[in-house]
Amino acid sequence: MQLFLDTANLDEIRQGAGTGLITGVTTNPTLIMKEGKDYKKTLKEICNIVKGPVSAETVSLNAEGMVKEGKEFAKIAKNIVVKVPMTPEGMKACRLLVKSGIKVNTTLVFSANQALLAAKAGTYFVSPFIGRLDDAGEKGTELIREIRQIYDNYGFKSQILAASIRSTEHVKEVAMAGADIATMPFKVYEQLFNHALTDKGIKMFLDDWQKLQRQLKK
Ligand code: E4P
Repeated sequence: MQLFLDTANLDEIRQGAGTGLITGVTTNPTLIMKEGKDYKKTLKEICNIVKGPVSAETVSLNAEGMVKEGKEFAKIAKNIVVKVPMTPEGMKACRLLVKSGIKVNTTLVFSANQALLAAKAGTYFVSPFIGRLDDAGEKGTELIREIRQIYDNYGFKSQILAASIRSTEHVKEVAMAGADIATMPFKVYEQLFNHALTDKGIKMFLDDWQKLQRQLKK
C-alpha cells in the first residue's frame, strides 16, 4: 500500500518526503485554507518536493468549470492529479479530463455505487472518506472492502485511495481491506513508527551493550 500525506503544509511534506516512504500528497480547499497561501504557488512547491501524484481540488460545481480549473492545475506540473467531486457534473468532467490525458481523483465518495460510477468514468484514483463515514455512525473501512471486491470483480484499473484517515488503526484496517493508497495527516504518519515495546527494546539492548563495554574494560 502506498502512503500519501494529506496536507498542504510544506514543512510537513518536506519531513514526510525526507523519510523516503511518502510517495504522494493530497490537498483540498480546507487544507489550503489552513495554510492561507496561494493554491497554485503552493501546489508548485509541493510538486517540487514530492515527485509522485499530487492531488489538487477543483471548486466549480459544473463540468465546464471543473475542466477549465483542471487544465490550469495540470499546467503546474506533470504529477498533478485533478480532484473532482462525486456528482453527475463531476463524472462528466472526469471523462473529459481523462480524454485530455489528465489524471483524475474522484473525491467525496461515501458508497460502493459511487465508486463504481467513478471507475466507469475512468478515474485514476477514487477517494472514499473513512473518517467522515465513522462520524456518521457507519463503518468507514468496510467501504474499502466493498470497493476492492467490485473493482477486482470487473478488473477496474482505478486505484482506491483511502481518505479522511484519522488514526493508525484506520491505516492498518484499510491496508487489510486492500486499499492501494492511504492518505493521512502528518501526525498520523509519524505515529505509524511508534510502539512502546520498540522503545523499551532499544533501551534494553543499549543498556546491555554498554554493560558489556564496561565489563570488557575491567
Ligand atoms: C483527501 O483527499 C480528503 O480531502 C481528506 O482526506 C479529507 O479529510 P477530512 O475528512 O479529515 O477532512
